[in-house]
Amino acid sequence: MSLPDIRFSQRRHQASVQSIAYLMKQGLESRNVISLAAGFVDEVTLPVSLVREAIADILTDDPDGHSVLQYGTTAGLGPLRDNLLKHMARLEKCSATDLNVTTNEIVVTSGSQQLLQHLSDALFDPGDICLVAAPTYFVFLGTLNGVGARTIAVDTDENGMCMDALEAELTNIEQAGDLNRVKMIYLVSSFENPSGVTLVDDRRKQVVEIAKRWSKEQRILILEDAAYRELRYEGEDGPSIWINDETRQHVILAQTFSKSFSPGIRVAYGVLPRDLVPAIHDVKGNFDFGSPNLNQRIVSHAIQSGKYEQHVAGLQSSYRVKRDAMLTAADEFFSDLPGVSWLRPNGGLYVWMTLPDEIKTGFESPLFRHATKTENVMYVPGDIAYPKDSPLQKKCQMRLSFGVEAPDTIREGMRRLSQAVRHVM
Ligand SMILES: Cc1ncc(COP(=O)(O)O)c(C=O)c1O
Repeated sequence: MSLPDIRFSQRRHQASVQSIAYLMKQGLESRNVISLAAGFVDEVTLPVSLVREAIADILTDDPDGHSVLQYGTTAGLGPLRDNLLKHMARLEKCSATDLNVTTNEIVVTSGSQQLLQHLSDALFDPGDICLVAAPTYFVFLGTLNGVGARTIAVDTDENGMCMDALEAELTNIEQAGDLNRVKMIYLVSSFENPSGVTLVDDRRKQVVEIAKRWSKEQRILILEDAAYRELRYEGEDGPSIWINDETRQHVILAQTFSKSFSPGIRVAYGVLPRDLVPAIHDVKGNFDFGSPNLNQRIVSHAIQSGKYEQHVAGLQSSYRVKRDAMLTAADEFFSDLPGVSWLRPNGGLYVWMTLPDEIKTGFESPLFRHATKTENVMYVPGDIAYPKDSPLQKKCQMRLSFGVEAPDTIREGMRRLSQAVRHVM
């Protein structure tokens, strides 16, 4: 008798192959390929000795030495959440009291991707709507797809999501009778992945006002994903979207230590509207009933000792050099190519490049093949950062990351990429 097929769930079919899995595998395995693709942080700057010392301290500090190797709570380690309030106050340049939240509204997760998944599970039924910037973080597009949500892209310029375009989309949705399906507006507020764009201060206020005004049938939540906030190389950090909502009922703030500390430790946190907290605890309870205690303790130790802050300052200097290396190489190798342009990010890990319309950059394109197979350089095709079939989707863009490679290698990668572009031009 032949082996019967496995019958998969509906959800399995919605969880289409994530491009991220392919890109990460390529980034880790193809060591001869220069990766301008992976959103990895720079291994050289990972806080190895800081973490070694922190673990030694933690494990000799009885009784903590035992309790950190035990399960923790679903909400996350109490002392870490206390430290997170102080950390947030420092970022918002106010006192912890002025934040007007308690540790009860903070939930710790294993990476912010996990929080995004929990939120999607708790909030979206198939057909419910999430409005996103065009382009945006493509892994979250996959997560939304996985729960059957509809994603609608909103036009974006160099100052972030355009508020008049957001209003126009909401008007269209209302006219179609679907306003009751709008659950969320998702925004990567600083140094967007992939475009590097930051939402300007006045739009941070406006989006809160828009979410409130359009919450006619149910609350429209804003999910502020601030993954790159601390990787700033130029200019002053302003207030978050979250702090602009005095009610604390419309904005979910998602923050991670993956980019600013260590993705191998993978600790993140969400600050939630009070009435969303039980739902996220329940979903996380079903999922893993709490993130690893030791990892949380390491992050807490690093914040408490002030070493985290020092580490971030070091990262900013190191990534600034790499960003500049990429921008200088873009000038050197691409500025004579007609119709090619790129954005200059003030932080984050990415430079967003647009080629002439007729040069496609997708996984199946001649450019991608030539770049990866002949020139041995890898980028992320820009089309995956738009919801499928969005009228705003462009197919001639590339996300170029300066995260992983050293400055000289970044320059060489850019040279090779320009060769590939010249080849298909
Ligand atoms: C915008 C954005 N949000 C969230 C994440 C998830 O990161 P983590 O799950 O490691 O916190 C990433 C990772 O690249 C990202 O770019």
